Amino acid sequence: VKMTYHNKLLLGWYDRHHRDLPWRISPPMAARGQSADPYHVWLSEVMLQQTTVQAVKPYFQKFLARWPTVVDLANAPTEEVMAAWAGLGYYARARNLKKCAEAVAADHNGIFPDTEEALRALPGIGDYTSAAVAAIAFNRQAAVVDGNVERVITRLFAITDAMPGAKPLIKAKVAMITPKDRPGDFAQAMMDLGATICTPKRPACVLCPFNGECLALKLHDPEHFPVKAAK
Ligand code: ADE
Repeated sequence: VKMTYHNKLLLGWYDRHHRDLPWRISPPMAARGQSADPYHVWLSEVMLQQTTVQAVKPYFQKFLARWPTVVDLANAPTEEVMAAWAGLGYYARARNLKKCAEAVAADHNGIFPDTEEALRALPGIGDYTSAAVAAIAFNRQAAVVDGNVERVITRLFAITDAMPGAKPLIKAKVAMITPKDRPGDFAQAMMDLGATICTPKRPACVLCPFNGECLALKLHDPEHFPVKAAK
């Protein structure tokens, strides 16, 4: 598989600096030719949508201890799931979580489907979650784009189109540099880079694996990106 220079730089950085998080396998999966459990990946991605990594950790552990499989979650009383979710916020996510678990149990024999398209058809799973689960749990070459990834990409390529209009271009750039062989590690590396190095304010460019390529850094103004729409 031909790798682009960008993903080689990023995966090398991830192998050295990835965060150890409870829904990941360590060392990164490609090193062992293994993938994370789709139920764990899905649960963590839903929890992480509007909540920080630090806040999610204890909830993720609690849910898995209480409902070890997606079928256990599907069979749980809705009030118990809502009560266990209390504190995470955005309660529509908990309701959708339960509905999705029920669909996986009833329509897929308790086994998550393994393509982006089939995942997207499940209740409560949108473009982000279907791409993230396909890449991280099933090693599918899906382009995973969240807010962190948008920031990294708009800086790397100095995308001057304003948000949210720049989204299709960002998605195309991510698709272009996502590798076939480690798409899940690549997606999580982009998220870790955005969370720890390529931060909104005062990014740590001296530590960044892209600091020789980043066009926003060449312009001496990474904080200018992503460009916000004029009010
Ligand atoms: N934010 C959302 N999903 C994530 C993941 N898999 N790793 C790190 N941060 C994330």
